[in-house]
Amino acid sequence: MGPPGRQLLYNRRVDRPKVLVTRAIPEEAFALLEKHFKLERYDKHAAMPRALLLRRIRDKDGLLCILTDKVDVELLEAAPRLKAVATYSVGFDHVDVKACALRRVVVSNTPGVLTETTADFTWALLLAASRRVVEGDAFMRAGRYKGWDPMMFLGGDVHGKTLGIVGFGRIGQAVARRAQGFGMKVLYYDRQRLFTELESQFGARYCELDELLRGSDFVTLHCVLDASTFHLIDARAFALMRRSACLVNAARGPIVDEKALVAALRAGRIRGAGLDVYELEPKTAAGLSRLRNVVLAPHLASASLETRTKMGLMAAQGLVDALVRRKAPEHAVDRELCRELFPAA
Ligand code: GLV
Repeated sequence: MGPPGRQLLYNRRVDRPKVLVTRAIPEEAFALLEKHFKLERYDKHAAMPRALLLRRIRDKDGLLCILTDKVDVELLEAAPRLKAVATYSVGFDHVDVKACALRRVVVSNTPGVLTETTADFTWALLLAASRRVVEGDAFMRAGRYKGWDPMMFLGGDVHGKTLGIVGFGRIGQAVARRAQGFGMKVLYYDRQRLFTELESQFGARYCELDELLRGSDFVTLHCVLDASTFHLIDARAFALMRRSACLVNAARGPIVDEKALVAALRAGRIRGAGLDVYELEPKTAAGLSRLRNVVLAPHLASASLETRTKMGLMAAQGLVDALVRRKAPEHAVDRELCRELFPAA
């Protein structure tokens, strides 16, 4: 037997909670996790196969997952020791939060740190779609530019137009702040109306969804995905939108009926779209990628090195809080469960 100090360290290591990380994420996050946990990493740049996930989760106390890993009853049943799930995302529509609460599993996410980055990217999509940046880029690369043409790639102005924001949480509000710089009129729709002081701070006016759809030159989605927002933007919505309008979606794919979107874009029912998310990600609806009036990104809105690092650290900290410090993670999704589990904290 070695000196007592070493023995203690050894025991602590043996007793470390076991955590599964389902995807390669910034190293800073791994470094934090490695200090506290016995880690199992799935480091591939591809989704962890479901069957493997269900096998590997069996003896784990914690899970750090990404937004394509479904945390549902099946997974929870395969994970009898699981106490905490940290999702490396702000959205948690892939997590059955109620089923987690029933099994006393604490869920945390990564809000706040990605707000500004996601808002920036929303504007990248909006500007690219309206000003035909991607079409122009393809044209240049194909060597087709033979000289300035007054009628080439005419898009639509952004400044001075009306922006309709559906879902006015942190990200929707950050998008609205940027709209002020473009001298735009801002309409918003949400389940809850803001206090008038906040509305005037963002220069935003509340209206019902249909009024927003009718009155906006750009409609951008920032609501959560749940039963009430599934296919919120469908054929009926496209029929209400202006023919000159562009749709931007950097929230969740299933908020838009993607088949109806393809039909609307094809028929010129709306002018264009900028999409970062898809209904059946990573697939896209038939015909979508052949349309010229749509800008397609592979779910990149929070993808800056700085933000992804912060998200990794926040997710890791959620697990450290729940499993090591035995306190509610700052960004726990179910505060009520945390009050029951960590009454003193
Ligand atoms: C990305 O889509 C996220 O929810 O963080």
